[in-house]
Amino acid sequence: MKVDAERFLADLHKLREFGAAGVGKGVVRPAYSKADIAARDWLAGRMREAGLTPQFDPVGNLFGLAEGASLLLGSHSDSQPEGGWLDGALGVIAALEVARAAQEADGPPISVVSFEDEEGRFGVTTGSAVWAGSTPLEVADGLTDRDGVSFAAARAAIGDRSGDFIDPARFTGYVEMHIEQGPVLDGSGEKAGVVTDIVGIRDMRITFSGQQNHAGTTPMHLRRDAFQALAAFNAAINARFRNVVTPATVWTIGHVGLHPNASSIVPGRATFSMQWRDGDSDRLNRMERIIRDTAEEIAQAQGMGLSFGPMLGLEPVAMDATLRAALEAGAEAVAPGNWRKMPSGALHDATNVARLMPVAMLFTPSIGGISHAFEEDTDEADLVAGLRVLAEAVGRLR
Ligand code: GLV
Ligand code: MN
Ligand code: MN
Repeated sequence: MKVDAERFLADLHKLREFGAAGVGKGVVRPAYSKADIAARDWLAGRMREAGLTPQFDPVGNLFGLAEGASLLLGSHSDSQPEGGWLDGALGVIAALEVARAAQEADGPPISVVSFEDEEGRFGVTTGSAVWAGSTPLEVADGLTDRDGVSFAAARAAIGDRSGDFIDPARFTGYVEMHIEQGPVLDGSGEKAGVVTDIVGIRDMRITFSGQQNHAGTTPMHLRRDAFQALAAFNAAINARFRNVVTPATVWTIGHVGLHPNASSIVPGRATFSMQWRDGDSDRLNRMERIIRDTAEEIAQAQGMGLSFGPMLGLEPVAMDATLRAALEAGAEAVAPGNWRKMPSGALHDATNVARLMPVAMLFTPSIGGISHAFEEDTDEADLVAGLRVLAEAVGRLR
């Protein structure tokens, strides 16, 4: 099977035009935005031209279906609020190119997918989580984004494009190509990473409620300042995690909403995201206990109300041995001795799809290890090398 590197790169650059923003090759294409829907309509057209049957499901996951039983390749085409041009997009366009090349070479039937809301505007990998049954649609519909818009309202943007959910039984497995989004391959100079497992994640919103008041007249000892509670919470969990975490464990407070967020007002409310990731479910659970206990102690000590939002989570998953072996053989064929096996610290749709069928993942290097930022990039020669690894692997799975 012979992939067309120019056609692949041209499609990748075309997809970036939907929501192109910021410096370098930045993209703003969050789930259900105008740019996201327009990109999906363009992708559906490219799928049709490739001889696939495009079909949207009720949450906006877009499949390009081959006839009969097929291997599913893909990723997602929504972006972070500030994202790069490759996160997700690479796996979708590489899938499209391999599907085209397979048809041209009378190769194995390949279907393509672009999952929706992988980037978690509403949750964690929402589109594939609903498709895989880990998040029931009624539960997803009740989730809200940081502006209070519900998933149910946002997904109405799919309109009459929506068909039924696709029966997963038509697929023999799922392979997702993605940028690494970390510094390992860039640092070692290796061309590819074959993923061994994907870490688990927990994510929830926490709110401290104090008393909004005048910032000039309220003495310090009488304040119930929600920001001070958040600051104390952050310092306390950093100290308490020390005995529990490994160097691979990560945790992030990435979004903070202070109410009313004005210089002369003691903040009455602090709502923030608390996210933590690790390869070990027990450790994730121990961290959850620390988070909940610490928030309760601080709320008590500072006279705060406290509420926890729904906790979203995905368990760590191992990649399928057969699919992984095909990627390893593909990597060795394209970049002999210049690739590695590695875990994924980023979340991917493959985690959800693993509930339905065997899955595997392939990484290409990320320059400077930067992602979820406009500066995200990869050398085009490395993108093409990754595409060739994927095609080699697929050829071995027929
Ligand atoms: C996916 O984008 C993640 O946050 O790992
Ligand atoms: Mn991604
Ligand atoms: Mn991402």
